[in-house]
Order: sequence, then C-alpha cells, then structure tokens
Amino acid sequence: MRDKILAGNWKMNKTFGEAEELIDEIADQLSKKPVNSDVQIIICPPFPYLEMIRDLSEECDIQVGAQNLSQFEAGAYTGEVSAAMLSSMQIGYCIIGHSERRQYFGETDEIIAAKIKQALNEDIFPIFCCGENLTERESGRHFEVVQKQVEAALSDLPADKAYMIIIAYEPVWAIGTGKVASPEQAQEMHAFIRKLVAYKFGEEFAENLSILYGGSCNPSNAAELFKQPDVDGGLIGGASLKAADFIKIAHSFPEDK
Ligand code: 13P
Repeated sequence: MRDKILAGNWKMNKTFGEAEELIDEIADQLSKKPVNSDVQIIICPPFPYLEMIRDLSEECDIQVGAQNLSQFEAGAYTGEVSAAMLSSMQIGYCIIGHSERRQYFGETDEIIAAKIKQALNEDIFPIFCCGENLTERESGRHFEVVQKQVEAALSDLPADKAYMIIIAYEPVWAIGTGKVASPEQAQEMHAFIRKLVAYKFGEEFAENLSILYGGSCNPSNAAELFKQPDVDGGLIGGASLKAADFIKIAHSFPEDK
C-alpha cells in the first residue's frame, strides 16, 4: 500500500512568533485527535523556521520539509541553501519545482531535475510539483505539458534512490484561486502520471509512488479528492495556515484505501 501524505506548504507566510503559534496549535489538535497511523504529515515552513518547527513537532510525529533547495552542491552561491545543509539539520523532505518557483524565479525543467538530484544525493525526499496553467488546460494540452515536466524530472534519476520521489500534481489554475480541480480531473491526471512513471520505472514502482493533489484543497473538498484511487494525499497552501482547517483535511482520508 502506498503512503498517504498530507503536506502543508506555508509559502512565504507567518512571522516567527506566528509560525510557533501555528505549529503549537497543530500539535495540540493532533494530540487530542490523532490521524490514522498510515497518514504522514509534513510541514514545509520558510527556511528560517525549519529548526524551530523540527524541534516543536518532534513529539507529534510531524515531518518537516523545506520549500526549495539549491541546484548546486556548495560554494559561492549567495542566498542559496544546499541539500547538504538541510540534511545536516535532519530535514527529510523538500518541495521542488513548485509552479511559483517556475513562474517568479525562472526555474526550468533542467534546474528542477538538478535540484531533485541534489535532494536524492542527501537522502531528502523530493516532493516534485507539476501542473499545467489555465491556457494549457483550456487548449487541451494539459497531458502533454505534465508529461514533459514529469519526464524531465525523472530523467536520469539514480536508480537506487528513485523510490524516494513524491509527485504533487498542482494545476496552476487551481493554486490560490478557490477553483479546485474536480475529483474526476484530479483522478484522470494522477492516473496518467502513474502510467508515465510505470512506463519508465515499471508497474511495481508506480504502484508504490505517492501522488498528491494541490490547488485550493480545503476541508470541504478534501475527502472527495482523497477518495480517488490515484490521489494519495494533498499538498496544501492556504488551508495549511489555519490549524483547524489543516487538521480537518488530515482527517479526510478514507479508511478503506
Ligand atoms: P493553495 O492550497 O493555496 O491553492 O496552494 C496550493 C499550493 O500551491 C501548495 O503547494
């Protein structure tokens, strides 16, 4: 059975004190009403809060992830954070290739592939994001776009570490817009991604791959999305900034899957 994963991407939100309050609240609510043991919760705060979130979340079995890392190994790259730095702080996960990084920071398929390799070299689980924009969806090119992104990301992965990859399908038109993909749209794309992965790495590998949905996922639509056979969880933006909403989403996984 594949891992069910709920990851919160806090993006560039919260001051230090607010972040402390939020993680305290999440930990408190989880201690009162724990999630099923097969659901892995990951919080991805801004870089400066990683250590604090790691320490405060230790008790409640929350994993911590970064939102980005450098495509370079080490050296004179002012402002960058390397995979080795993260792993030396016991940060086990990292979002890579988020559409906001593609859009505002010029990340290309090549840069994203290099970042995934850096993460794997340091035994960090990459949460690789893919997804089409509105024009691409409306012109019927969404499968083609996602295929290109996924194939570029998976090209040349070290075979012994490839199993670590987690994929998040995040249609850009759904991110922060309140316009969530329908369960059918999500299922269709997740099944497509799983097929692509099976083609490259084999059926068994693809069956074990967790594919998360992201984009306006909230407590009222999460259960329907998570019920879909190929939707293994969510990557949550806005709703991960409110403890109660995030915890409700964490309790939205079906029992019988
Ligand atoms: P929203 O949940 O705010 O739409 O953001 C999704 C996202 O980008 C998570 O990485």
